[in-house]
Amino acid sequence: MSDQSLIEILRIFKSSPDKELSGEELALRFGITRTAVWKKIQKLEELGYVFEKKPKQGYQLISVPDLLHPVEILSELKTSWFAKRYFYYREIDSTNTEAMKLAMEEGPEGIAVVAESQTAGRGRLGRSWVSQPKKGLYFSFVLRPSIEPREASQLTLLTALALVETLQSLYKIPAMVKWPNDIVVEGKKIAGILAEAHMEPQKLKFVVVGVGVNVFYSQEDFVGNFRYTPTSISIELKNSPAFIRRQDILVSFGKTFEEFYETFLISGWQPWIEKLRKASMLLGKFVTINTGREKISGTAVDFSTTGGLILKLPSGGVQEIWIGDVEQVTWE
Ligand code: BTN
Repeated sequence: MSDQSLIEILRIFKSSPDKELSGEELALRFGITRTAVWKKIQKLEELGYVFEKKPKQGYQLISVPDLLHPVEILSELKTSWFAKRYFYYREIDSTNTEAMKLAMEEGPEGIAVVAESQTAGRGRLGRSWVSQPKKGLYFSFVLRPSIEPREASQLTLLTALALVETLQSLYKIPAMVKWPNDIVVEGKKIAGILAEAHMEPQKLKFVVVGVGVNVFYSQEDFVGNFRYTPTSISIELKNSPAFIRRQDILVSFGKTFEEFYETFLISGWQPWIEKLRKASMLLGKFVTINTGREKISGTAVDFSTTGGLILKLPSGGVQEIWIGDVEQVTWE
């Protein structure tokens, strides 16, 4: 866990970006000595923060490192429970695996695991997830909703809607949901979600939701086999402008998801169906879905009240699908 006073000091610097803060002022505010203030500034410098030191005037924050360190994230986070318990790794096998362990040890709702890179990042259906250092955002969080096991897939969709909202509001990227767990931009994948539920007989104990967002990847970085073309925020914005910050994505997603989830807990899935219809790139398209047991083709016509995808089959019948992998999408 991080040093709370470092987070507080950073918040003060961030709330007055163009101002010098004197050591004396900070010392008074925190009830510590000026030497203690200086030591804290030094700690922040070790993390990569840059301060300008002006004799007799004080310190001014000049630049912030591109890190998801708890000091950085917790100084910006505006949530009441999401990621308030924050576990940070420079490198880990998989944030989902770690979050699963924490949840098994009774970690509370909202507990989050965030990593700069993953050595065994996991995607759906046993696939791997490219997780190079600092090129993406890789995080997982724990939810403990009182819902039926069959409703758990709605959490993937809720996460997808919060991600779409985040990418649209921060960067005006026309992101859409590719049911059930991909976020795409003009058909190219920019983010993926891996939700893993833990059941006790007949009961949902908790769900770990893992999110991977391609942030600074260039097209050359995507080596290996991809089901369909990947993209990233910097590719979509045509360059890597300094205003793309992984911190902003995590902080903004957290705030949005927290709001969405609280509404979901009160009102259920119904209010989200219309939002999903608008955000979905599949509706109206002819798709082939691999459910694991069979492949079903048909036109995606709607989402059901439970979050399933409704297909109109070439035979004229209608079928609802809850789990599956969209293998092919074509216009009718
Ligand atoms: C998919 O599209 O198949 C899902 C990808 C999910 C990747 C994220 S990265 C953070 C979290 N940890 C993992 O091992 N996987 C998820």
